[in-house]
Amino acid sequence: MFEKLKLAAQKIAQVCDTPPTVGILLGSGLGSFIDRIEDKQIIPYSEIPYFPNTDVEGVPGRLILGKLGNKRIAVLHGRHHCYDGIPMDEVVFPIRALATLGIDSMILTSASGGVNLGFKPGDLMLIEDHINLMGTNPLVGGPARELGPKFPNMLEAYNIELSMKAKEVADEMDIKLQQGIFVGVLGPTYETPAEVRMIRTMGGDVVGMSTVPESIAANHLGLKVLGITIVTNMAAGISTECESSEENKHRALKIVEILGNLLCKTIERI
Ligand code: HPA
Repeated sequence: MFEKLKLAAQKIAQVCDTPPTVGILLGSGLGSFIDRIEDKQIIPYSEIPYFPNTDVEGVPGRLILGKLGNKRIAVLHGRHHCYDGIPMDEVVFPIRALATLGIDSMILTSASGGVNLGFKPGDLMLIEDHINLMGTNPLVGGPARELGPKFPNMLEAYNIELSMKAKEVADEMDIKLQQGIFVGVLGPTYETPAEVRMIRTMGGDVVGMSTVPESIAANHLGLKVLGITIVTNMAAGISTECESSEENKHRALKIVEILGNLLCKTIERI
């Protein structure tokens, strides 16, 4: 595993003169954030050894290296999901490759369904912590042991200092930022109404099919994680409308601009 990561990191290092310190994982709908990056260098995932296969429909696959203000960043545009049948080791490989390259902070963005009745579609939520209901974990099995502790603690899965900075920026910019617990499920089905009630009872505020594997892999390697999720819809059984994932994506696009503003200012302070 370590050899594979070294090869991937070497390939990325060939393209950037100054190594990035902050990594950002952008979901598929968040591509417009890339316009804000200066001195861009783009590498398709297909050119980076061992990066996951980008042939999944609707998943862009490119790494963008560049500058945002005074910070060197590496943006993973396109995330892979376990529900596509991609092994978790592959899903988290890009995060591990960026860690090997030397980043110290990782920003995870995502889409999720609102479970907290006080939330609305289009809200942004700062992830304070997560509950893993995916039924698996990226550290299961041998290869991960080469990289970090066997039983890493997850006491601060979402770094408090980074979270406070994001909160501070949101307050200053008058951006409404909810806070709460992200419950990760495997998907690809949306939840049943009974599952949504269970998730609320156990303390979940949103539910989504991503983020948890990446947060675990990043914590395992000692990265500080900031998690912000877009509540694209209310989870099943809360509102009576039955929305397609196309409609979810459309709503996410509107909030992308605000999330971009929040991320830019927060990254300057990291
Ligand atoms: N459930 C799970 N994942 C999601 C949802 C949802 O309602 N919305 C966006 N991602």
